[in-house]
Amino acid sequence: MRTHLCGELTTDQAGETVTLCGWVDRRRDLGGLIFLGLRDRAGIVQVVVEPDSAAFADAERLRNEFCVRITGQVRQRPESQWNDDMATGRIEVVAGQVELLNASAPLPLLMSDEDGEEIRLKYRYLDLRRARMQKNLRLRAALNRAIRGHLDAHGFTEFETPILTRATPEGARDYLVPSRTHPGQFFALPQSPQLFKQLLMMAGMDRYYQIARCFRDEDLRADRQPEFTQLDLEMSFVEERDVQALAEDLTRAVFAEVLDVQLPEEFPRLSWREAMERYGSDKPDLRLPLELASVDAHVAHVEFKVFAGPAADPAQRVAALRVPGGAELSRKQIDEYTAYVARYGAKGLAWIKVNDAAAGLEGLQSPIAKFLDAAAWEGIANSTGASDGDLLFFGAGDWAVTSTFMGHLLVKIGRDLDLRERDWAPLWVTEFPMFEWDAETARFYAMHHPFTAPAEDDAQALRDDPAGSVSRGYDLVLNGAEIGGGSIRIHRQEMQQAVFDLLGISPEEAQGKFGFLLEALRYGCPPHGGIAFGLDRMAAIMAGEDSIRDVIAFPKTTTAQCVMTEAPSGVPAEVLQELGIALREKA
Ligand code: AMO
Ligand code: AMP
Repeated sequence: MRTHLCGELTTDQAGETVTLCGWVDRRRDLGGLIFLGLRDRAGIVQVVVEPDSAAFADAERLRNEFCVRITGQVRQRPESQWNDDMATGRIEVVAGQVELLNASAPLPLLMSDEDGEEIRLKYRYLDLRRARMQKNLRLRAALNRAIRGHLDAHGFTEFETPILTRATPEGARDYLVPSRTHPGQFFALPQSPQLFKQLLMMAGMDRYYQIARCFRDEDLRADRQPEFTQLDLEMSFVEERDVQALAEDLTRAVFAEVLDVQLPEEFPRLSWREAMERYGSDKPDLRLPLELASVDAHVAHVEFKVFAGPAADPAQRVAALRVPGGAELSRKQIDEYTAYVARYGAKGLAWIKVNDAAAGLEGLQSPIAKFLDAAAWEGIANSTGASDGDLLFFGAGDWAVTSTFMGHLLVKIGRDLDLRERDWAPLWVTEFPMFEWDAETARFYAMHHPFTAPAEDDAQALRDDPAGSVSRGYDLVLNGAEIGGGSIRIHRQEMQQAVFDLLGISPEEAQGKFGFLLEALRYGCPPHGGIAFGLDRMAAIMAGEDSIRDVIAFPKTTTAQCVMTEAPSGVPAEVLQELGIALREKA
């Protein structure tokens, strides 16, 4: 139907007659002349319809998003009319014939960034016509292609694993699918292919990967979807460094190929503890030149109980954040930051404005300066590097709560003051605790998942000190987002049993849920480990988008619905009958 793509025409085709197909991006009538922006997958070209042309009457009837076929001659624009913002900005097509392929009803949305999320998702097929969305989805495809190229070249085999399966515990609720042939029984959709990829290592496949759809029924946010995609990989006969080196090389290769960006030669690494101490986060944004300082040692002796108490307790901390030039902040802004950290559990936010550092305590402006002495201030000044014109914020209390709210404050201030120093900051976070204690349910939860090996290969040591044990898990963090997580796995049955026990999974339950895995561990399972990248997150960051919805063709809303197809939906009574399911009101 066409000879060329709109967006690919250049001065090379000047003088040629071309036939193009696409949509009317914009139509302007300029005193007799009609200008059309004609758009296809490759981009937009300007079409001119002259008043004496046979196509003029047809062109007059066109409206935005009408689908047309246009034949015309490519003409170089006079230099004064070049538009170098457009790839095709040095030419235009003089229409000879305009054929309407299909008219469009009046548009239900603006087809611009001003459209709301709900309307964009309801008319997703129109929203996706926009250049931004076309670019994002093509970037995503390029990312997949680069990943496959790299892994295929490194001895990996691509596998598919079941979607109708048993529960895989990754910390979310399962999506269930009722079985018709086994009434009253359900499949679970995989939260990840974790167990299957481990079984493939036991099967001697050595290097597995899959671009895998995962399903998790959890509370959604901008960076979470109920179904999302992982680049999932697993390797046999490896240690942490082997998996990390592969994952790093892969990340560098895809950034170079897709974005022409060179990431650092070696990604920095931080232990989880250090990340929390210094950045108040297990996914620090190292683009920001801000750090927390622990000032416990300097304030343990002061009169101020808000500080002295936590400073003396190893389960608590006093953390300071230096805001360069922050003395400019108004009382109102400080109050807003105080309200912001309160959302993360802060009971208060102490602050000091450093007007004249050389003048010691005299040079400070602060509601808490009166509680400090010269030694305390000197220690604080040294450990934070505070100088004239800075502001210090302080958080005190429970170690995890304080680290976390100060970490959120750090990122917020970094954004508000536009302090970002580089475009890309990848790093590894390692040495996570094996378990997290949940006071409410009075039990341990796996910090990664129950198949992650402890650093110390001794099941008895793990049973003796679960709270103090460190795992062989690692996260890959980019620009403050967790883009991947993995670990070296447990490959011996007694260790797997110990972890199940500590997680409160009884031997019967373990047998029921994971009997096949425990059994498989008995037949010469190789040491193995792997990682899964959140592909949607990676694509969003590469595309410069804040939400992963903008790199997914048909995403769900934050209430886990598809507003276009109106899924989920009810089903006819006969269907439920056949499945042996009776509905009742939710209590
Ligand atoms: P994990 O649960 O850390 O590990 O998931 C790996 C990565 O997947 C992304 N991710 C998500 N992206 C979008 N929406 C979600 N709801 C969502 N949940 C997770 C994150 C995360 O880093 N089986 C292990 C991997 C392994 O151990 O090899 C796993 O699934 O970017
Ligand atoms: P108060 O004695 O409670 O009036 O608090 C005095 C100052 O300490 C105020 O600036 C509070 O915001 C601050 N403050 C109170 N609790 C904390 C806390 N947990 N961490 C940091 N600052 C706090």
